[in-house]
Amino acid sequence: MLVLGIETSCDETAAAVVRDGRDVLSNVVYSQIAHHQQYGGVVPEIASRCHVEVLPGVLDEAMREAGVGWGDLDAIAATRGPGLATSLLVGFTAAKALSLRLQKPLLGMNHLESHLYSVFIGQDGLVPNGSPEMLCPCLVLLASGGHTILVLARRVGDYEVLGQTVDDAAGEALDKGAKLLGLGYPGGPAMERAAKRGHTAAVTFPRGFAGRGDEAATRFMFSYSGLKTSLLYHLKNQPLAAGDTQRLADLAASYQEAVVDTLMTRVERACRYFEIRSIGCAGGVARNGRLREKLSTLAARVKLPLLLARPEFCTDNAAMVAALASSDPQAARHLATDLDVDPTWPLA
Ligand code: KG4
Ligand code: ZN
Repeated sequence: MLVLGIETSCDETAAAVVRDGRDVLSNVVYSQIAHHQQYGGVVPEIASRCHVEVLPGVLDEAMREAGVGWGDLDAIAATRGPGLATSLLVGFTAAKALSLRLQKPLLGMNHLESHLYSVFIGQDGLVPNGSPEMLCPCLVLLASGGHTILVLARRVGDYEVLGQTVDDAAGEALDKGAKLLGLGYPGGPAMERAAKRGHTAAVTFPRGFAGRGDEAATRFMFSYSGLKTSLLYHLKNQPLAAGDTQRLADLAASYQEAVVDTLMTRVERACRYFEIRSIGCAGGVARNGRLREKLSTLAARVKLPLLLARPEFCTDNAAMVAALASSDPQAARHLATDLDVDPTWPLA
């Protein structure tokens, strides 16, 4: 099954062509970072206008790179939610128009499920016959700028959300922390770069819910708002001197460590609670080297395969959308009967 995927849920304009859930023929991403950088975050109106301007070119490029014709496509898949309403509308409306013009089915995709599926793309060595089912139940940590969710994927399409953040997402915590440290936007990669020369134990930042131990109500929940506030007060009490690069590096390393540790304690705990066949990690924060390193150590210790989404499939992209959509026999459930976008569509 050959599917064109479109992703415009936030500030990346993306299109990709994928065959049968695994062969990524093209994966084109136009990042709008430069348009939003001066505002220190995504401006929805600018994002949607930019999607309108660049999507036609991104679509053409994805089709050209894949070397297929419009008539070869079996379906058009686009992110229907969750995300920014005005951004989702651009990609989903384009998909509706293409579906009508080409007389091919329109598939409305859940952004969180697409992220989750990205852990299975390109794991062919581990997945006999390309079937992710062999690796399920898979414990997936989905950490991005908007979401932090721990999911038990019993199979593709059958998910139990074990826990999620009660306030900020992990990526959001990194973005806000980086802003306080003057590291720029997006904060995750900037924080990681700054942290390279720093000591992770230089400052002890709070780990959300740490004092609550293994209590049932918060066992798999995340909280990051206290961490950001802690950095704010730390800097108020001891302002960062211009040119003090070592202290900046130490603060970045300690802050990043708190973000990663908070994620890791939940993943480790869930490994003890559930019978799983693999551990996966997806979303923009999954690009983080420190998180990948700690997950690798854990996976080796518990002797489970680790499915880290490839870096190009971590941040928003359309390959994950088209891959999930073309991973038959599940495609029918994605058929878009509701032709409206859904900005708050949950995973399960
Ligand atoms: O998945 P994504 O592109 O968009 C959402 O759906 O939110 O994730 C973006 C988030 C941002 O918060 C960004 O700072 C973070 O992913 N991120 C990283 C890294 N690269 C991107 N966080 C930590 N380390 C990175 N290398
Ligand atoms: Zn995303």
